[in-house]
Amino acid sequence: MRKKIVAGNWKMNKTLDEALALTSEVVNMIKDEVTGDVEVVLCVPSLYLTTLNKYVDNAAKVSLGAQNCHEKASGAFTGEISAPMLKSAGVPYVIIGHSERRQYFAETNVQLAAKVDIALENGLTPIFCCGESLDQRQNEDYIGFVKNQLTESLFHLSAEQLASVVIAYEPIWAIGTGLTASAEQAQEMHAALRAHLSEKYGQEVADGISILYGGSVGAANAAELFAGADVDGGLVGGASLKSRDFTEIVKARQ
Ligand code: G3P
Repeated sequence: MRKKIVAGNWKMNKTLDEALALTSEVVNMIKDEVTGDVEVVLCVPSLYLTTLNKYVDNAAKVSLGAQNCHEKASGAFTGEISAPMLKSAGVPYVIIGHSERRQYFAETNVQLAAKVDIALENGLTPIFCCGESLDQRQNEDYIGFVKNQLTESLFHLSAEQLASVVIAYEPIWAIGTGLTASAEQAQEMHAALRAHLSEKYGQEVADGISILYGGSVGAANAAELFAGADVDGGLVGGASLKSRDFTEIVKARQ
């Protein structure tokens, strides 16, 4: 079902005490200030997921997500966490294929398809990330590149399986740079991805998929970005580390 979602990707930030304080601030601000039907997801370092679950009040529309999971259910993969582990810990969301994992850990579209599969098998909601580099945007068929990321990682899914996937378009050149895509650039890609989904699965299924924008989303630009007809919310990095900024972004989506 197409939901309005604002997810915060904390990346590798916050000590335990800082994480407890930030989560408590966000939950209370959302409870007090957000009345619309927007879902808030805090994608925190995996070390904190079980502890923070006690602080997250689903009634406040706030839930937790992991930032990655392995494509296997268990085994000799030192340092990794698995989808069954996340399921057992009551964590509903998991980011898959973030550009930083594609860059630093050489994650491929085929590998990410397996991660999506095991997340779905364990009842998790994958937040599948895609996006082009600055060079690709300036010199290549950047829309075709991003469409192919969906083709290779998602198009093996049935329509029923796909309905449980959230997509996050994050132009790599906008991540952490303060150089946000314009509202027009974001809407252009989101519309193209929804059309790509429609060609494969039909318009009804495509219209039911939440497509989030990520890349220097802030309190000042969120409303304009979210005004796009195919922009269903945001995947927020740096601004999610500040409770007031993040809450203003959520309010812009409600
Ligand atoms: O996953 C969201 C992140 O990549 C965006 O980071 O700091 O540009 O909002 P930021």
